[in-house]
Amino acid sequence: MEVEVAKSAGFCFGVKRAVSCVYDEIRSGPGPIYTYGPIIHNEQVTADLSSKGIRIIESLDELDAVREGTVIIRSHGVSKAELERIKSSGLRVVDATCPFVKRIHRIVEDASAEGRDVIIVGNPDHPEVRAIKGWCSGRCFVIKNTAESEQLPVLGKVTVVSQTTFNHINFQEIVDKLVKMDYDMNVVNTICNATQERQSEAVDIARRVETMIVIGGKHSSNTQKLYELCKHECSHTYYVQTLDDLTSQWFPHVSSVGITAGASTPNKIIEEVHTYVRSI
Ligand code: F3S
Repeated sequence: MEVEVAKSAGFCFGVKRAVSCVYDEIRSGPGPIYTYGPIIHNEQVTADLSSKGIRIIESLDELDAVREGTVIIRSHGVSKAELERIKSSGLRVVDATCPFVKRIHRIVEDASAEGRDVIIVGNPDHPEVRAIKGWCSGRCFVIKNTAESEQLPVLGKVTVVSQTTFNHINFQEIVDKLVKMDYDMNVVNTICNATQERQSEAVDIARRVETMIVIGGKHSSNTQKLYELCKHECSHTYYVQTLDDLTSQWFPHVSSVGITAGASTPNKIIEEVHTYVRSI
């Protein structure tokens, strides 16, 4: 059987950096160590960190109860208000917000300061989007499809940004719709290159193979998007978290298999799946 693993599968730059920060702190930092929210959407990694004593702070109320130690901010980032509260907590702060996400914070903060309305194209429930919203001091709207763009109120000058992991085709469709509304509009495509490359490569592989495997945590939005894109190209696409979710029944008389993985999937899991599929 021919098996092709996407070169872009697995940890992106920002996730690698955030996860390394936590392991560096375990090696050298003074404990106790906390992450503000799970450092990544991967149960295997968070379970390993938990076994090494890393605790997760889920809210500012929980933060208030912590008296000493280090708080690590994950790659998704936090809102301006949260960052200020965390910094004033008296705890040591390690900010592992991805620099590409930080750039969006600056864009929307500046746009708001100039009196512009901000549109964030993305999932309103995703922590990255909630954090970006928290850097806007003026009006801010989150939309995830063209139908929602039609429900926006009358806007002034507008700056449009995107969640870093949003699908670039859907983003363009939404922007095309907004352009027709004739606003004074400044569009900054803030979809991360890592996401674009991962999505394009996954689609390219899914078009050529009989079965496609997408690996990632079940709460990982970038993995869910990868799965949707691959499923569109290859009807035999399967979403797994680990090797345990795979079954050999998915590969009857299959001669070609593609494998990709979301940004929060450790190499170890990709390798395990790859080795297993090759052995079928
Ligand atoms: Fe950063 Fe891009 Fe990853 S924004 S967290 S490098 S997907």
